Amino acid sequence: MQDQLSALVAKATPELAALQTRPEFEAAKARYVGPNGELTALMKQMGTVPKEQRPALGKLINETKGRVQVLLDAALAQIEAAELTAQLGPAVDSTLPSPDIGPGTYHPLTLVREEMCRILRKVGFTVADGPEVETEYYCFDALNTPADHPARDEKDTFYFPASSRFANVSKKNPDEKYLLRTHTSSVQIRTMLKGKPPIRIVSPGRVYRRDTTDATHSANFHQLECLYVDKNVTVRDLKALLDYIFASLLGKDTKTRFRPHYFGYTEPSFEVDLSATHLPKVKKPWIEIGGCGMVDPTVFADVGYDPEVWSGYAFGMGLERLAMLLYGIDDIRYFYQNDLRFLKQFA
Ligand code: DAH
Repeated sequence: MQDQLSALVAKATPELAALQTRPEFEAAKARYVGPNGELTALMKQMGTVPKEQRPALGKLINETKGRVQVLLDAALAQIEAAELTAQLGPAVDSTLPSPDIGPGTYHPLTLVREEMCRILRKVGFTVADGPEVETEYYCFDALNTPADHPARDEKDTFYFPASSRFANVSKKNPDEKYLLRTHTSSVQIRTMLKGKPPIRIVSPGRVYRRDTTDATHSANFHQLECLYVDKNVTVRDLKALLDYIFASLLGKDTKTRFRPHYFGYTEPSFEVDLSATHLPKVKKPWIEIGGCGMVDPTVFADVGYDPEVWSGYAFGMGLERLAMLLYGIDDIRYFYQNDLRFLKQFA
């Protein structure tokens, strides 16, 4: 019996090591340790050996079983490794040049955003940032927007459930709700609360509204906000800056005009129209591009600036609309579809 066991191990060692596939492995396993396997057969013979030899033989059988199991495990590991190599394919030399078609390009919204920031940096503005998840205070209350204002309606604004927590977005009042900012004007408040005037910031970013998507609407889009706070700032400064920006971006033939409007955070307030008929595809004589005005004294008082000392202007505009004008794009949805045929045109 002892010889038979040693012979079995001697036979199994090269045989199991040579296995290449799972079916081969399963067959070999059955041949040795299956119900009708060779080792199983030897184990069954235990009953026929004299009683006094059984403990020694039992020990030997167990050792053999252990050795066969080690051989089986090694064979399976080898097969699995071969399978993995086959799946991975030939080795990749990561030092070779990329097989990609070439470097990527900037998205048209990125191009317009960066160009606007460049134009504004030239006249002293710095880029400020704010969170896309906002609270009612920064998005509405501090901007002098009353609780019953239609923009605050659930139909227009995405609110988070009361139980939501955003540890990185500070709340002014513990029981105000979180929401997705509906405009970048909230950055005005965060900036003013952080520092003292004078202030000159531009803040581009993503905003959200519960709009149904069509050629000119999208539930998320981008705005660019500017805030200027200093002494003796006038509407004339505001108009001059807007004229400068649009002439720089769209060409010197661009004209701007103000129409009286109402925003809670500015007084007086205006809507800004652009005339840019020199641009291809621009048919309408005037195109609405954003809102602006002189910062309302209530807003200054709320952030702790003395309205008797400080004055300022603010404006906000849609980046998509600017990009559509500049590049002659007639459907806002192109910006978000990531169709390379569209994107490649801005390389
Ligand atoms: N927040 C306004 C909007 O989303 C745009 C706007 C109007 C921004 C007047 C301003 C402003 O800073 O003074 O329609």
